[in-house]
Amino acid sequence: MTQDELKQKVAQAALDYIKPDLRDDAIIGVGTGSTANFFIDALGKLVGQFKGAVASSDATAERLKGHGIEVFDLNDVDQLSVYVDGADEANAKLEVVKGGGAALTREKIVAAVAETFICIADASKAVETLGSFPLPVEVIPMARSYVAREIQKLGGQPVYREGVVTDNGNVILDVHGLSITDAKDLEKTLNNIVGVVTNGLFAHRPADVLMLGTEEGVKTLT
Ligand code: A5P
Repeated sequence: MTQDELKQKVAQAALDYIKPDLRDDAIIGVGTGSTANFFIDALGKLVGQFKGAVASSDATAERLKGHGIEVFDLNDVDQLSVYVDGADEANAKLEVVKGGGAALTREKIVAAVAETFICIADASKAVETLGSFPLPVEVIPMARSYVAREIQKLGGQPVYREGVVTDNGNVILDVHGLSITDAKDLEKTLNNIVGVVTNGLFAHRPADVLMLGTEEGVKTLT
């Protein structure tokens, strides 16, 4: 099976997982990236069986609308029962690294509000130790060099993701060379650097359910 086929399978599995609880007043949090896109395409077939969605990026909002799914502002939503999104890496504690698509801040906000965060990924994203995938950090543009120097002091090698501006008007530093043994601590430490908007570690708010697309079928971890 190709990686895309695995992503499509796990996206469909996530939809099957939430389908029994779908009600016509339900609003679903939807993430960003190629795996989330497969989920959106599957969700598009259920239009009319739920109220709408909250998007974690402008690109996701556009794709949802393309399927006729109404997109709500998070501020207008009282309750978000579920958030479905992909990941760049995930460990056995369901801590994940996100932000390869530069949408980490809005993803983290939607995940924070949702009662259940369902993370969907092909099996290649499952790792023992987080950090092989360069950790994305969203930074206020004028603080880029300062934040880069502070990250170097922590032992990481930050690389400016040139040409990328986030939906919030900020820039991304991808931090290489980390072996993340205490994800909660690193998440907090990075967020404490002045000028950092947020980082791609989801450790204080890990996934509740991790669905992995494997050759043998979808593996669900809780
Ligand atoms: C977007 O900013 C990311 O957090 C994505 O969820 C993550 O990069 C996974 O992307 P793919 O589903 O495309 O692998």
